[in-house]
Amino acid sequence: RTRILTGITTTGTPHLGNYVGAIRPAILASRNDDNDAFFFMADYHALIKCEDPARLQRSRLQIAATWLAAGLDPSRVTFYRQSDLPEIPQLCWLLTCVTAKGLMNRAHAYKAAVDQNVADNEDPDAGVTMGLFSYPVLMAADILLFNAHRVPVGRDQIQHIEMARDIAQRFSHLYGGGRELFVLPEVQIDEAVATLPGLDGRKMSKSYNNTIPLFEGGARHLRDAIGRIVTDSRLPGEPKDPDNSQLYTIYRAFADEGEAAAFRRSLEEGMGWGDAKQALYERIEREVGPMRERYDTLMARPDDIEDILLEGARKARAIGEPFLAELRAAVGLDTPR
Ligand code: TYM
Repeated sequence: RTRILTGITTTGTPHLGNYVGAIRPAILASRNDDNDAFFFMADYHALIKCEDPARLQRSRLQIAATWLAAGLDPSRVTFYRQSDLPEIPQLCWLLTCVTAKGLMNRAHAYKAAVDQNVADNEDPDAGVTMGLFSYPVLMAADILLFNAHRVPVGRDQIQHIEMARDIAQRFSHLYGGGRELFVLPEVQIDEAVATLPGLDGRKMSKSYNNTIPLFEGGARHLRDAIGRIVTDSRLPGEPKDPDNSQLYTIYRAFADEGEAAAFRRSLEEGMGWGDAKQALYERIEREVGPMRERYDTLMARPDDIEDILLEGARKARAIGEPFLAELRAAVGLDTPR
């Protein structure tokens, strides 16, 4: 059987990029009977970027409700919070001790922070915590604890999965006595939506403040956000260039081939941007509207979500705990009595 695993950092409300890049493909894969799925809230990762306890708390609930509203079936999927599994930080430490600092120096998120500091004439490491620096090791622990074969993510996470493989191989080389101790994970990328653009055409990302929220704020908010997508100044009647329009790219992420082709033709034939935004709104709302109703119901019942997550943590630990014991023994930390 194939194990698929993916997580979302609990730093805010999920946006359309999280949905098309990770949540939707992950849920589709979880419905395949040949797969065992592990989906989780990366709330330890959230501490790296978020020092607001109330926001972190709320985001964990919102992201859990989002997964469930989008169709995750907790009887098929092992669905949990990272921080409910003490095995993850323990494995993280075992991996940290074999991870070369030089490997972490190359991590995009860390490098971007340093580059920004240099551009701002600051100390290169200003504001860089060890959490940010060793972020990929924690992510490797998430993946390797469950020996995941496939990790459905957006393109921005590819490097992290490659690092998880490197770290796994290094650990096995040192402690495996000639055998691989971990499954080496592969990324699963839906090429059509590997990077969903945001309002301004850059990658949709909380850090660029260019996101379109998936559910929060209701249909009105979705429509308003779509209204803020940046377009060129071509008037109704003038032909538009779909390949240079994030509006078209976002549409394509929600439409089947026929719908996307029809939309492309309309743009090329001069559909106005206002009408295009209305069409985009209607297409997204058709998919997301029914989920939003379930989301609102779930958000009103946090105790039910808590029950589901605690049961998920129990299932996850039943797998993670014995495997961690093997790894502890491999490094010489077994407890004979
Ligand atoms: P995070 O929380 O930033 O994003 C969650 C998922 O959404 C995808 N994504 C996008 N996909 C397409 N277009 C976009 N504009 C876009 N923005 C975000 C991300 O690629 C990701 O798949 N480090 C991870 C969380 C994590 C994890 C893991 C993932 C922790 N441990 C283990 C997989 C396996 C993160 O911060 O994702």
